[in-house]
Amino acid sequence: MIKKVGVIGSGTMGSGIAQVAATSGCMVKLYDNNIDAVEKAEQSLDRILSRLIEKDRIDDNEKIRIQNNISYVSSLKELKDSELVIEAIVEDLCIKQKVFTELESYVSDACIIATNTSSLSVASISSALKIPDRCIGIHFFNPAPLMKLVEVIPGIQTGQKVLDSSVETIKNWGKTVAVAKDTPGFIVNRIARPFYGEALRILDEGIANVATIDEAMRSVGGFRMGPFELMDFIGNDVNYTITETVFKAFYYDPRYKPSFTQKRMAEAGYLGRKTGRGYYRYDENGSIIKNENSVSKENLNSIFDRILVMLINEAADALYMNIASALDVDNAMTKGVNYPKGLLAWADEKGMDWCVERMDELYDTYHEDRYRCSPLMRKMKKEKKLFFS
Ligand code: NAI
Repeated sequence: MIKKVGVIGSGTMGSGIAQVAATSGCMVKLYDNNIDAVEKAEQSLDRILSRLIEKDRIDDNEKIRIQNNISYVSSLKELKDSELVIEAIVEDLCIKQKVFTELESYVSDACIIATNTSSLSVASISSALKIPDRCIGIHFFNPAPLMKLVEVIPGIQTGQKVLDSSVETIKNWGKTVAVAKDTPGFIVNRIARPFYGEALRILDEGIANVATIDEAMRSVGGFRMGPFELMDFIGNDVNYTITETVFKAFYYDPRYKPSFTQKRMAEAGYLGRKTGRGYYRYDENGSIIKNENSVSKENLNSIFDRILVMLINEAADALYMNIASALDVDNAMTKGVNYPKGLLAWADEKGMDWCVERMDELYDTYHEDRYRCSPLMRKMKKEKKLFFS
């Protein structure tokens, strides 16, 4: 069992990952090349653990135990005895490769070197290593201590033992693992695209305003947040960048085409909650200022159906392309982005006839490749099959 863990980068993700590993009993060394970031991480963990005590989730001894399991180090060399190192530094291929090359000169040949990248390929990062089969993607969601899902991504070079050991370790840390193929967006950031993209398309066509689309997803679909609230929460700059990255990475497949509306929001600096203005305006407490645009109750069902079927189609296509198993596809969306139901289970509930007919209706209306029905859904309709029988 892996006990000694190194984490590189003590920002948002690295500090959360260190907390998760330390809580489960690993001895963690957290390194960042910016000393202020290391100090900030230490103070932030202290605050987070104190809050957990206030909420009666942990006691004083547990706080001390977790804190004692983390040491904050100022040189990469100090990670030399690690059995697993997870990197969560800036999203830049050259910098990640450089850090991995240096790290490899310190650690033993048995050490697993993992990346938390969201958008780079594991294959490209691994290629910098002398032993590329020791490299793997271990992709946490923000905030890492709270989100149940972790995507584990073997690159084409990754060894089976490295995969098995990574999956076992992350499960021991209390997480749900979804194994994903090394393709753009992995599972969640690929399948979730229509949640935003189709909502923006409906807005751009003038079918409904943001409040109505959000209401449809919440009240009809049971989603905790509507697409526009969520985009404002994530940040319209961050969300636009992910959309554009996925679109380019898929060789400009129209299914992932970004919206000008989103681009303009980012350009204008209407980034959402963090700037006080996005699709909504926010007061000083970060709450939406109501009554700016009213909800039209008329087409809530059709709005929800359209976004849902696009999500189902994306999930079915990911399964069709062997990105992940059906169970992992559903777990990814319920545990990574809190969807109320797995999309493939939702498809079974709606019926394959419904799914294919809705997609074909959209295609007939627009004649755009964006609305092509996944061949897997068509095949399943014909054979009267379910995803989970
Ligand atoms: P962040 O900006 O909060 O933290 C990055 C940290 O890495 C900073 O403290 C910085 O000083 C440090 N760093 C930069 N270059 C370094 C180097 N050469 N050596 C050592 N430390 C270095 O970034 P965040 O958001 O934590 O993202 C980190 C990684 O995790 C990225 O690859 C990102 O794509 C990925 N990710 C981010 C998620 C998010 O929601 N923020 C979710 C999942 C993955």
